[in-house]
Order: sequence, then C-alpha cells, then structure tokens
Amino acid sequence: MTLPSIASVPGRALRVLLLWLSRRRALGRIATRLPITRAMVARFVAGERMEDALDALERLRDQGLRTTVDILGESVTSEAAARAAADQYLATIDALAGRGLDRNVSLKLSQMGLGVSERLCRENVGRIVARAVERGAFVRIDMEDHTTVDATLALWRELRPAAARAGGTDDGADLGVVIQSALLRSPADTDALIAESSRIRLCKGAYVEPASVAHPEKADVDAAYEALMLRLLRDGRFPALATHDERLIARATQVARAEGIAPERFEFQMLYGVRRDLQDRLVRAGFGVRVYVPFGTQWYPYFMRRLAERPANVLFLLRSILREGRHSGRRDA
Ligand code: FDA
Repeated sequence: MTLPSIASVPGRALRVLLLWLSRRRALGRIATRLPITRAMVARFVAGERMEDALDALERLRDQGLRTTVDILGESVTSEAAARAAADQYLATIDALAGRGLDRNVSLKLSQMGLGVSERLCRENVGRIVARAVERGAFVRIDMEDHTTVDATLALWRELRPAAARAGGTDDGADLGVVIQSALLRSPADTDALIAESSRIRLCKGAYVEPASVAHPEKADVDAAYEALMLRLLRDGRFPALATHDERLIARATQVARAEGIAPERFEFQMLYGVRRDLQDRLVRAGFGVRVYVPFGTQWYPYFMRRLAERPANVLFLLRSILREGRHSGRRDA
C-alpha cells in the first residue's frame, strides 16, 4: 500500500470507511494498545487520566480560552459502565470547581446508558445535572447519530427545568443541546429550541447518515450551517458556533459586527488540538472561544471521527506508522 493511493481515495469514501471503522470495537481494543496510535491520539485527547485533563485545562485557560470537558466513552452496553461514567462526571465537576476551572462539561447519552434503558440514562444525567446545579456548572448533551435525536431532545426537555431554575444565566448552571446542520430536521428543531430559550451548540454533524434524513452533499451541510448560524446569532440565547471552517467563522464575525451583535452574546467552539492558530487569532480579536477537551481511555471512536474529518490526518498517521515500521525494522536487523 502506498501513500499516494490513499491520497487519491475520494474524500467521502475515506470518511465513510473511517466512520465504519470507528464502530468496530475489536479494532479499538487493538488500537488502544499500539504506541504509534497513542502518540497520534495525544494531539486530540488531553490524556487518559483526569489529572492530565486538568493540567491541559489550566494551560488553555492561561491562553485566554474557555473550556468544556468530555470524558471519553460511548455506546455503553451495561448498567454498571453507565453508572461508572456518570460517577466520573460527578468527580470531574467537583475537581473543576476545586481547581477554579471552567465548570462546563459535555456528555453523550449513549455513554449514560441510553442503549441500555431510557430510565437508567435519565437517572444518570439527572444525577449529573443535580451536581451541576450545586456547583454552578453547565452541562452540554452532545448529539449523536440521528436515531438518538428525539430521545435527546425529550430528555433535555425533562431535565432542563431543574438546571435553568438554578441558574439560567449565560454562564451559570444550565443544560444545553447540540444541533447538527447535516440533519434535514434541524431548522425545525432549532426554531422550537429557540422558542424554549435553549442554549444551542451548532455543529455540522460527525456521523454517516442516510440521505432520507441528512444532506448527502457537504456543500449543502455547509449552506445549512450558515443559515442556522445566522438564525442563532440573531435570535438564539448565547449560541455556541462549533466549527473550524474559516469561511463560516469569518461570516459570523462579519454579520455580528454589521448587525451590532456583541461578542458577549455568542461564542465559538473548537476541538482540542484542531486549528490552535485560529483559536488564538479569534481570542486576540476579542471573541470568546471554548475548547472541547476530551480525556479518558476510551478514545478510539472519538479519534477515528477526527481522522474522518480531515484526510490529511490519515496520511500523517500512516506516515508515522511507516516511519515506526522502518525504525523497528532497523532495530530488528
Ligand atoms: P469542516 O469539516 O468543513 O472542516 C473545516 C476545516 O477545519 C477543514 O478544512 C480542516 O482544515 C479543519 N478541520 C476540521 N476537523 C479537523 C480535524 N479533526 N483535524 C484537523 N483539522 C480539521 N458533532 C456531532 O455530531 N455532535 C456533537 O455533539 C459535536 N460536538 C462538537 C463540539 C465541538 C466543540 C466541535 C468543534 C465539533 C463538534 N462536533 C460534533 C463535530 C462536528 O460535527 C464536525 O464533525 C467537526 O467539527 C468538523 O467540522 P467543521 O465544522 O470543523 O468543518
């Protein structure tokens, strides 16, 4: 296999392949043992232990960046694993408060046991929301593939009142959701959520979805993002524009300036390890930027989605593997 042949694989086919691989648990078990992948992973993941993440959060804070913490893990299949994940969130919220860091976490419902039972998931997220209220923390429910959207919004509607009663300010305790511009239903969901004064994170969507529910063409996903972004900038409550797309970011700043939408009324969000230059540039220009900081041992599916977002990342990984192979070949010789 040569690198140029990988480079010539059409972007969309490579993305579909990588996202398919992201769901293969057995591969994940192998990948997590390989030193080469672990080195690559360090670019996107703050570490395996909470202490590693707390150090990374401090460094980001010192650079003027806001943060949200994600404990890696998804699609859990046992009640015990889901409860353990929720316990880890409680400990993390406590640690954030203890270290004076941004009290802001992001979680996935499939990690909280949605695939086991809705009751278990509700109980786990309810415990986290209660702790967040105590600590004045913000909890964001990440959005997973389209089959989970109804359950996610229903759970948000059920649990949100407790969080909003306690805080409801733009930086206090609250429960927020995510909208994916790839999904055809998102304009209607956005309208409903704006009417409910929801804090929305807008992203493009990281999952392979059927054409019956999502835009198949990237250009349409981008156009849908722009339309939803403008709607949220004008009418949303402290929206989070989660993207590394420079054209969309420039459009947001231009519209904000032209329409007198103050930088305090919204924020940009980006992933840990992605476009650090752009994060710094926006901070220097006076915009709020929050970095999504994942940590934990269950990094495989998250890492594969990051590879799928940029084919150059795959080339980089393959080059490292080949280089490592050559070195170990020399050592063996
Ligand atoms: P796009 O994919 O068009 O990329 C724009 C440019 O950014 C690329 O040309 C490339 O240079 C750079 N870039 C993007 N991704 C990169 C990467 N991994 N490595 C290196 N460069 C990269 N999705 C979801 O389905 N549910 C969710 O809850 C969330 N949550 C979320 C939070 C935050 C803070 C962010 C930033 C993103 C998400 N996402 C998400 C992921 C999102 O849906 C999307 O897959 C990625 O953000 C990539 O899309 P962009 O908007 O960056 O645009």
